[in-house]
This record gives sequence, C-alpha cells and structure tokens, in this order.
Amino acid sequence: MEDAKEEIRARLPIEDVVGQYIELKRAGRSLKGRSPWGVDKTPSFMVSPEKGIWHDFSANKGGDIFSFIMEVEGVSFREAMEKLATQAGVELKRYSGGNRKVAERKKRVRELLELSCRFYQYCLTKNEKVCRYVFEKRNMTKGTAQTFRIGYSPNQGKALLQFLTKKGYKKSEMDAAGVLNRFGGDMFRGRMMVPFIDTGGVIGYTARILGQGEPKYLNTPETLLFNKGRFIFGLEQAKESIRQNGYVVIVEGNMDVISSHQAGVREAVATSGTAMTENHLKILSRLTPDVRLAYDGDAAGVKATERAIMMAGDLGVNLSVISDYHGAKDPDELIQKSEKLWQEAVAKPRPAVDWLLDKYEENLDLSTGVGKREYADVAMKLLRNVPHAVERKHYEQQVARKLDCSIEDLREQKIVEPPKRLKKVESGVESDALQGIKDSLQAIVLYGGVTEIKGVEVTENEVKIAELELVYDARYSGWTKEALEAEARELLKRLKVESAKEEVERLTREMEALGDSEEDQERQAEILKRIMVLKKG
Ligand code: UTP
Ligand code: MN
Repeated sequence: MEDAKEEIRARLPIEDVVGQYIELKRAGRSLKGRSPWGVDKTPSFMVSPEKGIWHDFSANKGGDIFSFIMEVEGVSFREAMEKLATQAGVELKRYSGGNRKVAERKKRVRELLELSCRFYQYCLTKNEKVCRYVFEKRNMTKGTAQTFRIGYSPNQGKALLQFLTKKGYKKSEMDAAGVLNRFGGDMFRGRMMVPFIDTGGVIGYTARILGQGEPKYLNTPETLLFNKGRFIFGLEQAKESIRQNGYVVIVEGNMDVISSHQAGVREAVATSGTAMTENHLKILSRLTPDVRLAYDGDAAGVKATERAIMMAGDLGVNLSVISDYHGAKDPDELIQKSEKLWQEAVAKPRPAVDWLLDKYEENLDLSTGVGKREYADVAMKLLRNVPHAVERKHYEQQVARKLDCSIEDLREQKIVEPPKRLKKVESGVESDALQGIKDSLQAIVLYGGVTEIKGVEVTENEVKIAELELVYDARYSGWTKEALEAEARELLKRLKVESAKEEVERLTREMEALGDSEEDQERQAEILKRIMVLKKG
C-alpha cells in the first residue's frame, strides 16, 4: 500500500489534483486559492507544489492529495486512493496481493452495471409509452434524464440477462451486481430505472413501477458495491453545488432529488427514505456543516429529525428543517406546482430544535398539567442533545417560559432513560479553533527556532510536518525571534483557554449523564470541583 501511495504521489502533482476543484494562483513558492469549505472572501487555501501539501487557513485542515480528496469528496481513504490511482494510471491490484481477487471482481461488476445502465437508457428511447411517463407524467427534461441516467427495463423476463451474456458476463457476476432475481431471471421488469451512482459509476438501481402497484420501488439489495447505510442518492450530481453554496438539502425520495435538481436546487440528496445513518451524516458533514432536512412532517419525519439531532452534535453539524410545502405532500409535488416556492422554502429553513419543539406542542394540550409534564419531558430529552451550553440555555429558557416555570423546575424533572450519547466519530482531521492554535505553535517550534515552549507536543507524522512548514511560511516568515516568542506566549494562553473550555463542555456532558447513586454523586462532586478550577484558569 505504501508503495502504491508513493507511486500515485509521484505521478500526480498536488496542484493538478487541487486545481480540479479550486482556482489556484501563484504566490511566491506556493499557490493560493479560495477555501472550498469556508465562506472566506480572501484566498486562505494554500498549496505547496514542492512539498505536495495543502493547508486551509480558514478551516484549519490540511494534508496531502489523499486527505484532500477525502475531505473535498467526503469519501474514505480507500475510495480516495482508488480515485487517484485511476487518475494516475496506477493499478492498485499490483500492490495488494490479498485483495486482488475482490478488486478484480468489483471491477467486473462495475463494468457490468455500467453496461446495464446504458442498456436501460437505450430501452427508454425505444419505448414511447415509457417516454411519456418519464417526460410528461414525471415532467423530466431530456437533460435531467441524462444527468440521472434514467432508463427502462423491458418487461420480458430475460432481456438484460441475454444482453449481458452476449457481452461475456457470467450469471454469478450478474448475481453479484444484484440485477438477477432469485429464479435467475431479470430482477427489474417493466420499470423506470434510476441508477445509484457513486464516484466510480453505477452501483445499483431503484426501479419504479409505471403507474400503480406493489412494490412501488424495487431496490438493488446490498451487494459488494452497494451499501444502503453509506450510499447517498444524488451526491455525485450534487457535490459541486453543495461545496459552492455551502449547504445540503436532504429529502426523503429519490424522485424529490431529481425534481429538485431540475428546479435549480442542486444541493439535494436522499438517504434511503428517512433511514439516515451516522455514516451518511458524517460523509455530508465533510462537505458542509449546514444540513437542511426536508422530510415529511409526519411521525416518521419527526423521529428522523430527532435522530439526526442526536447524531449532529458530535459532528459539528448545524441542522435545520425545511417544512413549508404549501400543502404539497413532498418536494416533488411542490416543485410540480411551483419551482419558485421550493427555492424559497429551501432558502429559509427553521432550526431543527425550534421545529421539533413546535411539533411537540402541536400534539399536546399545554393548558393542562399532564400536557405540560409531557411537553417538559420530551423537550428536556431533546435539549440534552444540544451540545453548546449557550444554545441549550436559550431553549431551556424558552421551554420554561412556555410552561410558566423556572429552568430549575425543568432540571428537577427525572428523566428515567439515560441520555443516548452516540459515540464520537473519528473524523480523521480536526478542524476547530484548538487545532488552529496547535498548528501555529508546532510550526513555531519546528521552523521558528523557538524550542523552549513547554507543553507543546510536536507531531511525528511526516505529512503533517510538511504541512506545518506551509503554515509557518504563510504566517510567520520574516518574523524576528522576539516576535515569535511573544506570539508563542500568546498562543499558549489561548491554548489553555480553549482547552479548558473544551474540557468544561466535556465534563458538563458527563455530569448530565450521571444518576443518583452514591458513586455517581461522588463523581459529580469531583467534576464540579474540576470545573471550578478550570473556570478560574
Ligand atoms: P415515497 O413513497 O415517498 O416515494 O418513498 P416518492 O419519492 O414520493 O416516489 P413517487 O413520487 O411516488 O414516484 C420515499 C422513498 O422511500 C423508498 C424509496 O427510496 C423512495 O424514494 N421506497 C418507497 C422504497 O424503497 N420502496 C417503496 O416501495 C416505496
Ligand atoms: Mn413523490
């Protein structure tokens, strides 16, 4: 693997890789551009061609070509590697003995799916009735049908099977692709075909019946390429807009995605129905922190929004809800009525917590004691998932006002169920203020010759060390030793403050999860003491 990495690195200049996403201009030995994440007006993204390193000063992240693709495309290391290997013309399987068979098979299955997609697309053009469904009933333009590669699966039982057999594919390969049913014939018959597309191409299908009938949609089962918990429908087509405009819209249906794109809202994606997983959210959070949910306002939509809030806290995602459908049942229906109304709805989402509190209130009678108690229960349960103390307080106050009681009354409420803290997801690259300070300090130690800084650990990761030189050159080149020492002192002060802040937040969260047992009470006392110390500085 290391060899493959080096080979790819040697063949792909970093400025070419980054240049596909950002316009770069020369600035001395480095290149500069606009951050693909920030809303910065000044170029804060730097690339060093010599070192093969990038660093983003607005988002405090950086690394090599691999981490760049991971961040910008929201993919895993493995996927970034595969993508770059293709660009570099490096054959990964030469480097990976054990996985060679699997890689080979995956490649065949991908090719087969690509061919099947073209086959279905062709069949659509030959069938007038289906064309009417796609272009008239569903109102798609030719361009939209092409972008989403819409097709039609003939209703003959073995049309695809025969086509693929002629092309030299084995039944076992078709089976691995998920295009056969359990009787060995075509899985999809007489349906509008909507392919699942990822960075590498087609990985499966969702297929809609034309007109009424069950099941409405037939989906590819989990295969070695298609994983429901990771795949995000429309992301390939939406990526660029998400990055450019800094937000993503999550809708329930795949057809909602397609209509939304056609209506000019190209930031729309879908996770299979309302079953968004932490993986989905993690992938999206790498592209933008602004996540707007456009679920139905029914019970499933409320549940899905609650789950999203629990997952969002730790990922640093800002969740909001788009709910103004003007009576339409889903975005697609609204768009068919008026594209403008959808665009407007997307532009003014409501913070998810506010939206949920309203929903709770709708379903309860707050003029009664029981209603108030239930409202307090669900509301406080929800608010425990708001990680930021100031924000949480804001909502607690709001709830207290609504119930005509005090925040203390609310906090006295026994909430039996322990809070569901989802475990923190490793996000590979830290990207907060703390990381920015640490980077600067390490850069000064490594390249500024100010070695006597206590409490600064310097990384041993080579890529990071190279990245820090970029940080140093951009921030501190030409500074005197005295100036650097002063800066280091200042940074250390800030480091202490920020670290303390973080620890207080962590401890506060831990405390909230404690119960009434003696042990827990002891731990609480300990935590309180520690917080006092931290707050005094
Ligand atoms: P909907 O029933 O809301 O579909 O299901 P839709 O997007 O509005 O479809 P149209 O407009 O009637 O064509 C939302 C999502 O739930 C999944 C699909 O992912 C769909 O996009 N679903 C629904 C299925 O997988 N199978 C089904 O039978 C129905
Ligand atoms: Mn619909």
